[in-house]
Amino acid sequence: MAKVAIMGYGTVGSGVYEIIKDNACRVAENAGEMMETKYILDIRDFDDHPEKHLFTKDVNDIINDDEVSVVAEVMGGLHPAYEFTKSLLLAGKSVVTSNKELVATYGTELLAIAEEKNVNYLFEASVGGGIPVIRPLSRCLAANNITRIAGILNGTTNYILYQMFTNNKSFETALSDAQAKGYAERNPAADIEGHDACRKIAILSSLASGVEVDCEKIATEGIVDITLDDVKCAEAAGGVIKLIGYAEFEDGKVYSHVAPMFIKNENMLSGINDVYNGILITGDAVGDVMFYGAGAGKLPTASAVVADMVDSVIHASRRKIIGWKKPEGDVFADAAAKKFRYLMRCELNSTITEPLTMAECDAMKEKLNAKSAIRVLD
Ligand code: HSE
Repeated sequence: MAKVAIMGYGTVGSGVYEIIKDNACRVAENAGEMMETKYILDIRDFDDHPEKHLFTKDVNDIINDDEVSVVAEVMGGLHPAYEFTKSLLLAGKSVVTSNKELVATYGTELLAIAEEKNVNYLFEASVGGGIPVIRPLSRCLAANNITRIAGILNGTTNYILYQMFTNNKSFETALSDAQAKGYAERNPAADIEGHDACRKIAILSSLASGVEVDCEKIATEGIVDITLDDVKCAEAAGGVIKLIGYAEFEDGKVYSHVAPMFIKNENMLSGINDVYNGILITGDAVGDVMFYGAGAGKLPTASAVVADMVDSVIHASRRKIIGWKKPEGDVFADAAAKKFRYLMRCELNSTITEPLTMAECDAMKEKLNAKSAIRVLD
């Protein structure tokens, strides 16, 4: 019997608890033994919960319990998730997480501790919710040099843009709907300003390159400036606008940004709608591979968390090697030299430019007196 703990009983944490209980036989078949939740850590009281005896407010109950081998950290946020995770790994417990902010910010250090302690630090749920993408990128595509990743990595913003495109809904109404459905982060600024997608592309880029790609250095724009005029202009130009986490890899360097991009209707990513995520990965041997599915929500995200718990039970004595190291020197390519085509919206019409650097784009925008300029995903 594997005894496990869940830290955080919010949307994802309650989903993890339910899957472990409701799919107990399936989980046991895969893990090779039954899995039982011994603790749930949360600062709130859950006096009406049928298993209220499982709840604790003291992380030391978990850290000091030798019976607990695997812990799911689904609290979100940096602190105290970082301190708790570090203590648990140092205590020789495997930790799995959906916390992209923590993985993108402290992942390098936590992965090194996990390696030193011969335990697992797994984070499949941190990118793409329920979509398997971390393992496929690390393992199934291991024979490739990854050349490009372009992903719709945030369900909330995809939902908002989809509502703006299909139902002419205002940004605010669509955001409230997404929050009510439990898609949005606690602070929706992380979604709409692009920070959540930035953390996710940083994680994917670090995995693809094998070295840490610092999320703080990725140029990040959200969707707050996208208007219904931009929506109409994109439709007229034969495409849609999606918030894209973008990375290109060449000669050991990474170019990366998060920004709304114009996507022609022929591109596979244009059909990723609602709260769904889609991640298009290009490898030099495999070509294009697309990952698609529910990128947010209680059970889809919990599905990936529990799968990592199962893997941690299976790999209790021989850890799974998924991660990256600290880079030697700067990994970022010169962003000022990078060129994209742009969809420029002028007063009465729009145009798609030749490939331009950012400075050339600014000059062209001024010359055309354009209201907006959105990079094209070619
Ligand atoms: N707020 C995130 C999203 C949750 O909307 O995609 C999943 O990471």
